[in-house]
Amino acid sequence: VSESDKNLRSPICCVMGHVDSGKTKLLDFIRGTNVQKGEAGGITQQIGATYFPAGKLREMTKGLKADARLEVPGLLVIDTPGHQSFTNLRSRGSNLCDIAILVVDIMHGVKDRTIESLDLLRRNGADFIVALNKVDRLYGWKTCGNAPIVEAMKVQSRDVRDEFERRVSGIIGQFEKQGLSTELYYKNYDVREVTSLVPTSAMTGEGIPDLLLLLVQRTQRTMVEKLTFSNQVRCTVLEVKVVEGHGTAIDVVLANGVLREGDQIVVCGQQGAIVTTIRALLTPYPMREIRVKGAYQQHKEIRAAQCIKIAAHGLEHAIPGTCLYAMGPDDNLEALKNSVMEEMESVSGHIDKAGEGVYVQASTLGSLEAFLEYLKSKEVNVKVSGVGIGPLHKKDVMKVSAMLEKKRTIKYASILAFDVKVTPEAEEYAEKSGVKIFTSDVIYQLYQQFKAYVDSLIK
Ligand code: GTP
Ligand code: MG
Ligand code: NA
Repeated sequence: VSESDKNLRSPICCVMGHVDSGKTKLLDFIRGTNVQKGEAGGITQQIGATYFPAGKLREMTKGLKADARLEVPGLLVIDTPGHQSFTNLRSRGSNLCDIAILVVDIMHGVKDRTIESLDLLRRNGADFIVALNKVDRLYGWKTCGNAPIVEAMKVQSRDVRDEFERRVSGIIGQFEKQGLSTELYYKNYDVREVTSLVPTSAMTGEGIPDLLLLLVQRTQRTMVEKLTFSNQVRCTVLEVKVVEGHGTAIDVVLANGVLREGDQIVVCGQQGAIVTTIRALLTPYPMREIRVKGAYQQHKEIRAAQCIKIAAHGLEHAIPGTCLYAMGPDDNLEALKNSVMEEMESVSGHIDKAGEGVYVQASTLGSLEAFLEYLKSKEVNVKVSGVGIGPLHKKDVMKVSAMLEKKRTIKYASILAFDVKVTPEAEEYAEKSGVKIFTSDVIYQLYQQFKAYVDSLIK
């Protein structure tokens, strides 16, 4: 019987948790890279994705001497930010994944973003395991390379083992308060009801074989149906970026199906559905992070699950966070265009019919939605006349200043720019034309700035 007789696709695993718990570093250890060191302020600010082929997983887990029959072709791992402003990216990650790793710093325990991630995972019904990371920081820890955790614990002193036990039971108590039963994975005999804890170090590697083996076993044992390969394309846009030599491309996660060069695709765009043809299908090399610039492999076709850069004409206004459809022989193009734009409807319902209100710019559809919901709430109640996604350009400011001339309501000559860059030309034009731009990456602060301004107008 061949390993692939079940025809499974690679599971998608999302890494979530509080800021600086070691999510990126864990992936760095497995990849043998140093992505974390290159991040501004050591903070992840984008969704990342890395493909781990089965061969690598087999090699990493051989120390566990498990009869690890790998039935999946590999593992696609999604890295998310832990900083509080990126709830939308955590939410997108938790939507995409088959299973997640919730990373907790063993020295700090359960924190705000741990709880938020837990809520997101539960809401999506996603299965997950917990990594108790940074075990090497237990005082007196003896490094054991990437040894299985039980082996590594055996060589530790009494003191280290005591501190370990103490911290683990503290964290089990903290999770209990969140209504979650947890137990060290090698003592967990009720994996359906109790979530497994895997102690790890992203610095020295202990427990990483355990983490990988557990992920693979759990997915291929309990998710066979979900992981069975199908030809139906399921694909989500993560980012829109320029790729040298290929023009504007989109980073996508292909969760199921096959994409081919030359396929006609339909993508949600800011000015309507984008219908285009795949010019190039690029992937980073296995074990390399897609969000880090590097060399790409070009493919004629790619099977799920994978993270891919798709180069095609007209993708400049594609909206991150939305679905991508591929035209099949039986598909109706108009129907696909309608379905792809349905996701935008949640936004258009928030725009004032009489065209009165502030202009709102946000980084992604998800963050725009979150911000619009907030502005609509009873306590806030700010009208919105128009929206945009991505960096704020001069042409956006021009739209607002034209509106100002028609309506003459000074407070509405305002742009609330949430978590986006403002180009110098846009700033200059705003200055000249009397449009106010407010910027912040925290929804509440952005509203407070605007409110203070409106109050000052009244006085
Ligand atoms: P965000 O993506 O910004 O939320 O952070 P993160 O969870 O990806 O954490 P990151 O990988 O950026 O690590 C944060 C800091 O902790 C870095 O200085 C790492 O070197 C350090 N660190 C991560 N894992 C470990 C570990 O297992 N042991 C030790 N000693 N330090 C670690
Ligand atoms: Mg990170
Ligand atoms: Na960090």
